[in-house]
This record gives sequence, C-alpha cells and structure tokens, in this order.
Amino acid sequence: MDQFPAVEPIPILAPIWLFKLLLLLTLSLHFTAVHLLIGGLVLGTVWGIAGRRRGGADVLVPAARQVVRRLPVVMAYVINLGVPPLLFTQVLYGQALYTSSVLIGLLWISVIALLVVLYSLLYTAERRSAEGRVYWWITLIGLGLVAKIALIYVNNMTLMLRPDAWLEVYRLSPLGAHLASGDPTIWPRWTYMVVASLMAAGVAVALMGATAVRDRAVGTFLQQWGALAGALFAGLLLPVAAWVLSTQPAEVTAALGGSALYGAARTVWLALILVVAFVAGYASWRERTGGWKLTALASLLVYLQVASWVLVRDGIRDLSLNRFGYSVWAREVNPNWSIVVTFLVVFAGGLVAVGWLIRTMLKAEGEHRGYAKGREEESNHAA
Ligand code: HEM
Repeated sequence: MDQFPAVEPIPILAPIWLFKLLLLLTLSLHFTAVHLLIGGLVLGTVWGIAGRRRGGADVLVPAARQVVRRLPVVMAYVINLGVPPLLFTQVLYGQALYTSSVLIGLLWISVIALLVVLYSLLYTAERRSAEGRVYWWITLIGLGLVAKIALIYVNNMTLMLRPDAWLEVYRLSPLGAHLASGDPTIWPRWTYMVVASLMAAGVAVALMGATAVRDRAVGTFLQQWGALAGALFAGLLLPVAAWVLSTQPAEVTAALGGSALYGAARTVWLALILVVAFVAGYASWRERTGGWKLTALASLLVYLQVASWVLVRDGIRDLSLNRFGYSVWAREVNPNWSIVVTFLVVFAGGLVAVGWLIRTMLKAEGEHRGYAKGREEESNHAA
C-alpha cells in the first residue's frame, strides 16, 4: 500500500456494494453513449464521403444525414452520463484515480478543451449536412479528437492500476504531459472500445432506420447496412477481446478465472459478442424487407454486452489493485442513511426527468414532421 496517498479522513457514506452498483449501471450507460458517438461519427463520415463520390443521387447522403444530425444530442448524453461514474469511481478508488489524473494532469485537463472543440464541430457538421453542404472533413477531424479523448481516458484508467509505474511517469514529465503508453494493456483496451463502437452504432443505426426514419428507402438502407456493420464488427470484436485478456498480467487473468462472479461475467461477455454477431447478421438479412423485432433484440443484446464488459473491467480493476494491497472492500464505511435515501430519491427523480425529456423530444420531433408534411402538402396544393 506504500504507493497510495493517505485515505480521505471522511469514511464512505454508503455501503461499497451500493456505490459499485451505481458505478456499473451509470458506466454502462456512458459507454453505450460513447459507442454511439464514435461509431456514429465513423458511419456518418464514410457514408457521407461515399454519397458525395456518387454525386449525392442515391440514399447514402440522406442516410449519413440521419446519423450526423443526431450526434450533438448523443454527445450531450456522453458527457452527462460520464459525470456520475466519475463521481462514484472517485469515491471508491480516489487514492488511485486522483494520483493517475495528476500524473497525466496536463493531458487530463486538456480533455475539457478537446470536448468543447468536438462539440462545436458536431454542431457545425450537423448544420452543414442540413444545408446539403460537404461536412465529411469536419466529422473526420471530430473523429481524430474523439479518438484522442478516448486514448486519454484509457490511459488514465490504466495508469490508476499501475502504482509501480507512477514514479517513472512523474519523472518523464512532472507537468503531466506524458501519456503512460508503455503499458501493454492500453492499445488493446482502446482498440476494443473503438471496434465495439462500430458494432453498437451499426445496430443502433439499424434500429433507427427501422423505427424513426420516414423515408423508407433511407430507413431500409440504414437498417440493412447498419445491422450488417454491427454483425461484422462484432465478429472482429472477438479477437480484440481475446487480445485485451491476453495482455493482462498472469496473476490478474488467473484471479479473474478463479472468481465465480468475474469468471462468469467473462464467459457471458465473450458469448454475447458471438450472439450479437449472429442476431445482427440474421436481422440484416431477415428484416431487409420490413420488420423491426430482431433489430430491437440485437440492440438489447448490445446493451447487455456493454454491461458485461463493464463488469469484467471492474474485475480487472479490483484484481489489479489487489496486487498492490488495495482492496476497495476494505475501505472504511460509515453509512449515513438519511443522505443515502435523499440521494436515491433525487437520483430516481433525475431518471424520471431524463425519460420525460426524451419522450418530449420524440413527441416534438413527430409534431415537427407532421407540421413539415402539412406545409409541404399545402405548397403542393397551391402549386
Ligand atoms: C467524447 C468524449 C468521451 C469519450 C470518447 C470517452 C471515452 C471513454 C473511454 C474510452 C473510457 C474507457 C476507458 C477504459 O476502459 O480504459 C471512458 C471511461 C470513463 N469515462 Fe468517458 N469519454 C468521454 C467523455 C467523458 C466525460 C465528459 C466524462 C465525465 C465527465 C467521462 C467519464 C468517464 C469515466 C468516469 C470513465 C471510467 C470510469 C471507471 O473506470 O470507473 N467520460 N470514457
């Protein structure tokens, strides 16, 4: 435990399992949003470029537009769903996470600036696509920024597990301008997040095409090609997942297999990748002439797959920290139930508010479409 700074004098206010549960739940939602952002940027850019090369005459350009116009909203979810897990992780693993954050301080703080630029790029791309102007170079820059942000996150979440490397990282750059990229687990983890993003966004775009796009030619394209992309990238994700596991220290791999919970989570995680590949592939073929149920099932399976990775990664973190004498379960707890209950009530209220927000947004979109259609019919009539 020598490497870890002294613990906060205030004991943890709620049982560890409760914080863990909330961390896992909110992180699975954050990861889902991150996947939709990264994968959406890739699909929107690729289809946008391909559509322009074909002169913009077929479904590719409007299909890309359907994806790009939603990215600013997805970005809002990435950020807002990132805050809760950040707070829970800091409560449970503050001694490790604060240290690694300080060690890459300059890069860590630069995430805020990168996020602001990325956000403005997404709005610019959205506006340009609405005006029928070229935007692919903007989403391409956005993709570069998102890849960099993801790399900084992966670095921090990995460096927090390596107290033995902290001094060396500090020596390399006391300013915190040096990423700890020597760790063998960083690139596999980053690649995993990127490939999983293409799987998740493909399936999500397919669901969007099946349920939320009025132009049937565009909707069918999104459904068929989205599900196909989801299936293909799920296929690719399996070797990447194996790469993630193979780069873990031998002790961690053994402990993961020896734990009933994390061992089972690992099996479910790998199995779900295969199941998603089959269901999404089948949906892309079966529902190419209509239907949405298989696509919806594939989307649910993707969320479960993301959640199972969050659990496996939680195991990797706890077992890695155990190697250095840090056990989250040994943290001092002094429950203050009035605060816990107040928090849970506010949390539930927040969830209801978000649900209401989404419902209102979808309703407004429907009304806007109805209004636009009415205007279109009126002008056709007048002509
Ligand atoms: C474009 C923006 C973002 C991207 C691309 C992104 C990407 C990522 C990635 C790739 C990871 C996984 C790291 C790993 O497994 O090694 C991660 C973890 C995390 N992100 Fe984000 N993120 C973004 C924004 C945010 C924001 C704004 C917050 C908070 C305000 C946030 C909070 C977190 C937290 C707390 C974790 C890890 C928690 C844990 O390990 O318990 N993220 N993010």
